[in-house]
Amino acid sequence: MSRLLYIEASPTKDRSTSIAVARALLDLSRRRDPETVVDVIDLWDIELPHFDAEMIEAKFAVLRARDATPAQRAKWAEAVALAQRFNAADKYVFSVPMWNFGVPYRLKHFIDVVTLPGENWTWSRAEGYRALLKDKKALLIYTSAGAYPVGPDYDAADFQKPYMRRWLAFIGITDVTEIAVAPTLDVPEAVEARKQAAIDRLAALPF
Ligand SMILES: Cc1cc2nc3c(=O)[nH]c(=O)nc-3n(C[C@H](O)[C@H](O)[C@H](O)COP(=O)(O)O)c2cc1C
Repeated sequence: MSRLLYIEASPTKDRSTSIAVARALLDLSRRRDPETVVDVIDLWDIELPHFDAEMIEAKFAVLRARDATPAQRAKWAEAVALAQRFNAADKYVFSVPMWNFGVPYRLKHFIDVVTLPGENWTWSRAEGYRALLKDKKALLIYTSAGAYPVGPDYDAADFQKPYMRRWLAFIGITDVTEIAVAPTLDVPEAVEARKQAAIDRLAALPF
């Protein structure tokens, strides 16, 4: 039984191009393996704890094996619960529109909350940073109004794809497939054709 976590970063739901492709992937995945457990995190419909001074103090208390105050521990527990929900998946699907060259702020917020020492990365003087996740894969479905193709040579203004890849590698997810549906600032027929081409590619992916 495999666990698939879908993280939805677009707020526009039925009008979203990235969500349409992600939904097609989820349908395909359920048809292929009805036993697959699918968890969905809609980043626009989830309470994310503030990553504030209390949380940062808690993070350093964990890193330096120091005692945290009860308030710090309570904040940390909220973040750990989300990180463990994230870590529990074998496969990840992200729908990620480009926002101001990067990713929507709710996705950045989520990443800041779940990327935790002791949960998905660690640091020691001897080894430096070490990723803790293993044997996982991710599918990234990107959209953008402009044409920002998938690498290896990403556009210098593209902080969407290189950022997602870097973050995933930091926590140990290196088996990454990227699909860009772009440009979406085009006549509707052209956008529809790009979206359909992306959906047609899904069948060949191991998800
Ligand atoms: C706040 C905001 C910022 C955006 N910034 C960019 C950008 O920097 N570059 C770009 O090409 N498109 C940008 N876009 C356009 C979206 O990436 C584009 O409409 C995309 O197709 C949305 O995907 P979705 O339908 O899956 O939500 C932005 C859209 C919004 C709402």
